[in-house]
Amino acid sequence: MNVLIKEKAIFQKVKEIGKQINADYENKNPILVGVLKGAFVFLADLLREIEIPVEVDFLSISSYNGKESSGVVRLTNDLSLNIEDRDVILIEDIVDTGRTVSYIIKNLKTRKPTSLVVCTLLNKKEDRIIEVPLTYIGFDIPGVFVVGYGLDYLNRYRNLKYIGVINGK
Ligand code: IMP
Repeated sequence: MNVLIKEKAIFQKVKEIGKQINADYENKNPILVGVLKGAFVFLADLLREIEIPVEVDFLSISSYNGKESSGVVRLTNDLSLNIEDRDVILIEDIVDTGRTVSYIIKNLKTRKPTSLVVCTLLNKKEDRIIEVPLTYIGFDIPGVFVVGYGLDYLNRYRNLKYIGVINGK
């Protein structure tokens, strides 16, 4: 495994994003919506850097089989909270083609939130097919397949504390 982003660098970045959210949402109480499964580690760490009142919810999406995106995005588990008239921050592990985030944004907007922004730990700009607005970005990374810190390859490696690239992949 080659380390692309070290644990310390992730820790620092998560702190920075948390600070930014604290400032941007002062006197508000947003809902953080984590996209499962990949975003659960990032969300858990980010949440603890947030000092304003905040609520948490999750939705599940399926679209990937191993390393290849099927291109078909499906909502497999919906939110439990009502997001109408609420400020929503969508928390993603990685934005690659943009298909997933674009699908989720469209879906959530029909529920009439006051605001909806995207916060992603990783951004693979060069693979983008659909342009999506990203308000908070942890790291821009090259178009390589990464694992760790919540991200998987065939459901493994989510437990790594760093972001890595599997040798030979
Ligand atoms: P998109 O729809 O192509 O933007 O892909 C977004 C989703 O694909 C993410 O939420 C991840 O679950 C998955 N994904 C994309 N690239 C990677 C990667 O390098 N490693 C692990 N999962 C990835």
